[in-house]
Amino acid sequence: MATTSADNRGTWNSKFGFILAAAGSAVGLGNIWRFPTEAASNGGAAFLIIYLICCFLIGFPIMIAELSIGRNSQKNPVGAFKSLSNNKFFPLVGMWGILCGVMILSFYTIIAGWTFSYVFVEIFTFTGMNEAAAFIGDFNNGFVNAIFAILFMGCTIGIIRGGVSEGIERATKLMMPLLVLILIIMTVYVLFQPGAQEGIRAYLLPDFSKITTGLVLAALGQAFFSLSLGMGALITYGSYLSKKENIVEAAGYVTISDVGIAFLAGLLIMPSIFLAQSQGVVIYNEAGDFLAGPSLIFQILPELFSQMGGILGLVFGVSFFFLLSLAALTSTVSLLEVPTSYVIDEHGVRRKKAALGVGLSVLAVSLIISFNTSLIDHIDYIFSTVGLPLGGLLICIFVGYYWKTTSAIDEIKNGFKDAADSWFTTAWSVFIKFICPVLILIILIRTIF
Ligand code: PFF
Repeated sequence: MATTSADNRGTWNSKFGFILAAAGSAVGLGNIWRFPTEAASNGGAAFLIIYLICCFLIGFPIMIAELSIGRNSQKNPVGAFKSLSNNKFFPLVGMWGILCGVMILSFYTIIAGWTFSYVFVEIFTFTGMNEAAAFIGDFNNGFVNAIFAILFMGCTIGIIRGGVSEGIERATKLMMPLLVLILIIMTVYVLFQPGAQEGIRAYLLPDFSKITTGLVLAALGQAFFSLSLGMGALITYGSYLSKKENIVEAAGYVTISDVGIAFLAGLLIMPSIFLAQSQGVVIYNEAGDFLAGPSLIFQILPELFSQMGGILGLVFGVSFFFLLSLAALTSTVSLLEVPTSYVIDEHGVRRKKAALGVGLSVLAVSLIISFNTSLIDHIDYIFSTVGLPLGGLLICIFVGYYWKTTSAIDEIKNGFKDAADSWFTTAWSVFIKFICPVLILIILIRTIF
């Protein structure tokens, strides 16, 4: 039976719950798996600096814009653009965002499945069941990939079916603090190991000669991916946010926690790689390139855990991959919530049915990728590295020139009384109208041509 979207939408129970859920969306494989390796292969601190600039000067203003669109319209990305302007083009921007979300979710589920599978790989290795470990840890085995993707999507659908406060908020309230705790303990442990300095040096000493157009696009894409921007995830999360909350403050917390966790993950992973190297693990390929991506986390770190030896290696190995799975789950939840909220709002379908239908459809794409994992890089490039900044550019144009920054500031005023007279919102308008779109455009054009 069809139902009105208002019955189905829900709201966050508390400001803390919202911030955790939004930070949970932001913090994921992007921070702990993608960021440290990108930094390592792109000149360490050179990448870090460009990444920080992209996060704070481009990402943060766009996050405020997305949250204002969401809270003002109380709709999914397509519905939001429809209700805030008569222009026929912008709902297509919402559609593009949903498509990016669906495609990112389809490959993200596979990588998240790998992380979860490594919890078992660690246990099997410890108990001497090496054949079982090799079987489960083989990413070329489409069947194993598919099983873990199904498992992961099942958990994601389960949380989304629970709704906004009972599902997403409750799950992230439990998972996020746990994640930060495990990350801190592991980082402190690794930093105190002899030989960790070399990794810290590689992570923090800038090599500015490495700043190229490719690096800048990679940093921009990483900032959008990591902050969950450009595809309407925060329009959707903002649509469940109460009018009394301060959007600027919330966006600030989310940006800082995301960047902080990425930085912390770098402090954990870079020294780990060099510790692994000092114990004989190869960290560069034959061409002299740094081993980034899947190889890094899934080949080098288990080696490190096993060298730690005994029960300590097991505890670290299992908790690390469990932590990564949790981080991924709070992100897949937000990726699935975007198309689900679209189906609920625009087609009047009940939440439970919508979550299941959309989740299973995305899973069908994931199953194809399970057997053709080389597709991941291409999908990632089109829909994350290029697709998200493109979405961000169009959101800036929408807020800057169609909906107007004055309307957005009126919305921001709800939880931030002095917004209209504040230097901050004046500067924010300039960023949304000119600085962010121009920077994104230059980077995209220079990369494509
Ligand atoms: N921010 C997530 C990560 O860093 O892993 C990925 C992501 C989630 C991207 C949600 C986009 C999104 F809407």
